[in-house]
Amino acid sequence: MTIPLSVIWKDEQLTILDQRLLPQAVQYETLETLEQVHDAIFQLKVRGAPAIGIAAAYGLALAARRHKTVDIESFRKDVKKDADYLIASRPTAVNLAWAVARLINRIEQAGTVAQAKTQLIEEAQLIRDEDEAACRNIGEHALELLADKERVLTICNAGSIATAKYGTALAPFHLGKERGQEFQVYACETRPLFQGGRLTVWELQQAGVDVTLITDSMAAHTIAAKGIEAIIVGADRITANGDTANKIGTLNLALLAQAYGIPFYVAAPVSTFDLSLETGSSIPIEERAAEEVATIGTQQIAPAGTKVFNPAFDVTPAKYITAIITERGIIRPNDEQTIEAQLYAVPSKGETV
Ligand code: MRU
Repeated sequence: MTIPLSVIWKDEQLTILDQRLLPQAVQYETLETLEQVHDAIFQLKVRGAPAIGIAAAYGLALAARRHKTVDIESFRKDVKKDADYLIASRPTAVNLAWAVARLINRIEQAGTVAQAKTQLIEEAQLIRDEDEAACRNIGEHALELLADKERVLTICNAGSIATAKYGTALAPFHLGKERGQEFQVYACETRPLFQGGRLTVWELQQAGVDVTLITDSMAAHTIAAKGIEAIIVGADRITANGDTANKIGTLNLALLAQAYGIPFYVAAPVSTFDLSLETGSSIPIEERAAEEVATIGTQQIAPAGTKVFNPAFDVTPAKYITAIITERGIIRPNDEQTIEAQLYAVPSKGETV
């Protein structure tokens, strides 16, 4: 049983798992240019907020190596331009902008281009390693909340392949497996691109975790019929008041959790918080191509030319969120204390924040 990985840096090469092909094919691809990294993110070969950030960080560092200038100021300008290009690949997950901003800040004081090139790789590596540590800690905190629970529902894939390792919402299931705490996970298939059916089911099966697939429209019935005890999801951006953007369909689940009186947990690293935005209404929501809804694979399922609305994410208001599980600890968005105060009040377990 293994926990699969999706972004791998080895021998100075960036390799990603092409998640579009799962579960039919497990195919890794080496990315060498800025354009390839941009397109891999845009096409969802690599996806999931933290994984996008990590891939972009390595992509920026790789592209920077090819810049010929020896003037540090023009080098910084080139890197900034590359960063803007990468950020434009997907708008909702803040981890992307966060990661490339870290690289840009890192070379602020660099004296030479050679030094800056080394620093960029180092920073990308740090972002990856910190994310793995963060996800492990998220898993630990989530296990505390899920200590007396067995049947848990999730949506999309907020798993190992959406992060450096372990995942966010799926981290407690991976850690639980290591420790003999078994869960029965129910995975919403996640229309239109089936990240639940294709990716979460595959990932949990690889790791030997019990998983049952349902369609998104079966969630309410399943909560009642199967006695779901908690819902746990990932996040693409969390604003200062705790509003949370995540895969389309997440809001439905939060409302169901409220109706059925079960906890609704969001699991996310600090890199997913955007405290510069006050509420979720300011989060840019990616809208994707009509064909994703009007077809399944190559099969047309709606009349040609059908008008389609295809938002990739929705925003769950903080009032429906029982707790946000971060690497620093558990945040209660409906507490009197602000999210920011809670985020920085809880003791860090040694990770850089
Ligand atoms: O469109 P995707 O597949 O990138 O959407 C991913 C999600 O919504 C995840 O829940 C989120 O990015 C968290 S991944 C740890």
